[in-house]
Amino acid sequence: MMQRWRLVLLLALLAFWIPPPGSTPAVAAAFAQNSAGTTTNSPAQNNAARSSSSTAQENASPLQTELLRGPEQPVPFSHKQHAGTLKMPCEYCHAPSRSGATLTIPRASFCMQCHQTIATDNPGVQKLTEYAKTDRTIPWVRVYELPSFVSFSHKVHLQHGATCEQCHGAVAERVRLYKESDISMATCVNCHRAKRASVDCSTCHMLEQ
Ligand code: HEC
Ligand code: HEC
Ligand code: HEC
Ligand code: HEC
Ligand code: HEC
Repeated sequence: MMQRWRLVLLLALLAFWIPPPGSTPAVAAAFAQNSAGTTTNSPAQNNAARSSSSTAQENASPLQTELLRGPEQPVPFSHKQHAGTLKMPCEYCHAPSRSGATLTIPRASFCMQCHQTIATDNPGVQKLTEYAKTDRTIPWVRVYELPSFVSFSHKVHLQHGATCEQCHGAVAERVRLYKESDISMATCVNCHRAKRASVDCSTCHMLEQ
C-alpha cells in the first residue's frame, strides 16, 4: 500500500516536473554529464551558492558566521565540544536503528549519564535536565533529511567505506550543525557513477510493486 503510494507520487513528479526557468534542474544536471567519471559538482555552482549567503554575513566573525548558519536547536548541543574536544566517537551517540538504514539521535536520559553531574549550572544543561526529568523527546530540528520518496541506507554506505565526513562535513569542528554538504540527487548520482554503483531510477526511487 505504502509502495503504491510512493509509485504514484514519483509518477506524478515525473509527469508534472517542469524545470524552473533559468535554472539547471538537479535531474538534468545529474544526467547531462557523460559517464567519463566526473565526481564533483561544478565549482561554479558551489561558488554561486556560497557567495549569495556570504554577503549578508561578511562582517561577522567566523564563529558568529557559523552560528548564524544552522537552525537554533532546543538545547544548544555542540559537536565541537563532544566529538571534537572530548573525542566521543560518532557511533557512541548515533547507534544504528534495527535495519541500520537510519541512525538514532540520543534521548535526554542518555545525555544525563554525564550531565547528572557535569556542568549542571550551564543553562543549556539545565534545559536538557528539564527534558530528562519529564522524559520528553527533545524536538531537535533536522539538518539532513531526504524526501520520503527517496530510499537511503547508512548501513550500505558505511559498509562500502564511506565516512561520516564525506556526506556531513567537518562535524567534529562545528559548534552548531548546518547543512554544509549537499545531499541532492546530483551528489548521489555523481558518487554512484564514480563507484560504479547503480544509477537506475529504481535504485533510489522505489518503482517496484
Ligand atoms: C553516503 C552519505 C552518508 C554517509 C556516509 C553518512 N550519512 Fe548520515 N545522512 C545521510 C543522508 C542522505 C541523511 C538523510 C537521510 C534521510 O532523511 O532519510 C543522513 C542523516 C543522518 C542523521 C539523521 C538521522 C537519520 O538517519 O536520518 C544522522 C544522525 C547522521 N546522518 C549521522 C551520520 C554519521 C554519524 C555518519 C558516520 C557514521 C553518517 N551519518 C554517514 C548521508 C550520509
Ligand atoms: C561522556 C559524557 C558526556 C555525554 C554523554 C554528554 N556530554 Fe555534554 N558535556 C560533557 C562535558 C565534559 C562538557 C563540558 C563541560 C564544561 O566545559 O564544563 C559538556 C558540555 C555540555 C553543554 C554545555 C556546553 C557549553 O556551553 O559549555 C551542553 C549544553 C551539553 N554538554 C549537552 C549535552 C547533550 C544534549 C548531550 C546528549 C546528546 C550530552 N551533552 C552528552 C560531557 C558529556
Ligand atoms: C554526545 C553525543 C553525540 C556525539 C558524540 C555525536 N553526535 Fe551527532 N548529534 C547529536 C545530537 C544531540 C544531535 C541533534 C542536535 C544537532 O543537530 O546538533 C546530532 C545531530 C547530528 C547530525 C544531524 C542529523 C540531522 O539530520 O538532523 C549529524 C549529521 C551528526 N549528528 C553527525 C555526527 C558525527 C559525524 C559525529 C562524529 C564526528 C557525531 N554526530 C557525534 C549527538 C551526538
Ligand atoms: C560516497 C559515495 C556515495 C554517495 C555520496 C552516495 N552513495 Fe549510494 N551507494 C554508494 C555505493 C558504493 C553503493 C553500493 C553499491 C553496490 O552495492 O554495489 C551505494 C548503494 C546505494 C543504494 C542501494 C542500497 C542497497 O540496498 O543495495 C541506494 C538506494 C543508494 N546508494 C542511495 C543513495 C542516495 C539516495 C544518495 C544521496 C543522498 C547516495 N546513495 C549517495 C555510494 C554512494
Ligand atoms: C543515487 C540515487 C538516485 C538516483 C539513481 C535517482 N535519483 Fe532522483 N532523487 C534522488 C534524491 C536524493 C532526490 C531528492 C533531491 C532533493 O531533495 O534535493 C531525488 C529527487 C528526484 C525527483 C524530484 C525532483 C527533484 O529534482 O528534486 C525526481 C523527479 C527524480 N528524482 C527522478 C529521478 C529519475 C527519473 C531517475 C532515473 C533517471 C532518478 N531520479 C534517479 C536520488 C536519486
